[in-house]
Amino acid sequence: MRVAIVGGHGQIARLLHPLLVDAGHSPVALVRSEHYRNDLESAGAEMRLLDIEQEDAAAFGRAFAGCDAVVFAAGGGPDGNKERKRTVDLEGSLKSADGARLAGIRRFVQVSAIDVDNPLPPDTGEVWQAYVEAKRDADAALRATDLDWTIIRPGRLTDEPPTGLVALGPDVARASVPRADVAAVLTAVLDRPETVGRQWNLVSGDLTVTEAIDRAVG
Ligand SMILES: NC(=O)c1ccc[n+]([C@@H]2O[C@H](COP(=O)([O-])OP(=O)(O)OC[C@H]3O[C@@H](n4cnc5c(N)ncnc54)[C@H](OP(=O)(O)O)[C@@H]3O)[C@@H](O)[C@H]2O)c1
Repeated sequence: MRVAIVGGHGQIARLLHPLLVDAGHSPVALVRSEHYRNDLESAGAEMRLLDIEQEDAAAFGRAFAGCDAVVFAAGGGPDGNKERKRTVDLEGSLKSADGARLAGIRRFVQVSAIDVDNPLPPDTGEVWQAYVEAKRDADAALRATDLDWTIIRPGRLTDEPPTGLVALGPDVARASVPRADVAAVLTAVLDRPETVGRQWNLVSGDLTVTEAIDRAVG
């Protein structure tokens, strides 16, 4: 599969590209700066320019041309800008889903975040609230589409080396998980059609990725 990754220079995305290549896929990294080209091409990805906030769904569709699947791995990041939770985390996902449809792509894997459907305590800061609501609404919108979606909701991300051992499922409790293990799960679910229509929390655990998916689909 040729796999378009929105947020293609993100920390998870950069770990994902070589795993996709090893799995026999061709990653296409959608990014907002030409400066990332060397990095991405050395990781085995084709690079295409796409500014999530500046461009519309039609541009997303053009950027996805020739691809068979989309992974949404973008985010406004920890810059404290609450507006970017809406324009990147929410609207970026909505435009990616619309763009996928325009490009004739059915498979769509979204990186979300754990527990975003839970009610927030009244003293929640406005940036965190905007982030959680953006992820929650993006997931709800994706679930309502007729795309072949899978939603992965990681716990707190770390930069630890991969363990290859995860816990995956709708009710898995909050804990941390290395970005490298998230990338491994994203790669694996792309190759597992039984994961379509599933939304799972993801944290570190004691099952291999294959075992964890087998159990979660079981
Ligand atoms: N941190 C956590 O503990 C945690 C937990 C669960 C889930 N998550 C979510 O997991 C996802 C991936 O995490 P990560 O660590 O890989 O995130 P990341 O490194 O912050 O990557 C996000 C990417 O989105 C890109 N982006 C932002 N605005 C853009 C725009 N206007 N146009 C094009 N690209 C844009 C950024 O591009 P640039 O490189 O150009 O800035 C960045 O590469 C995020 O959505 C995050 O919210 C995080």
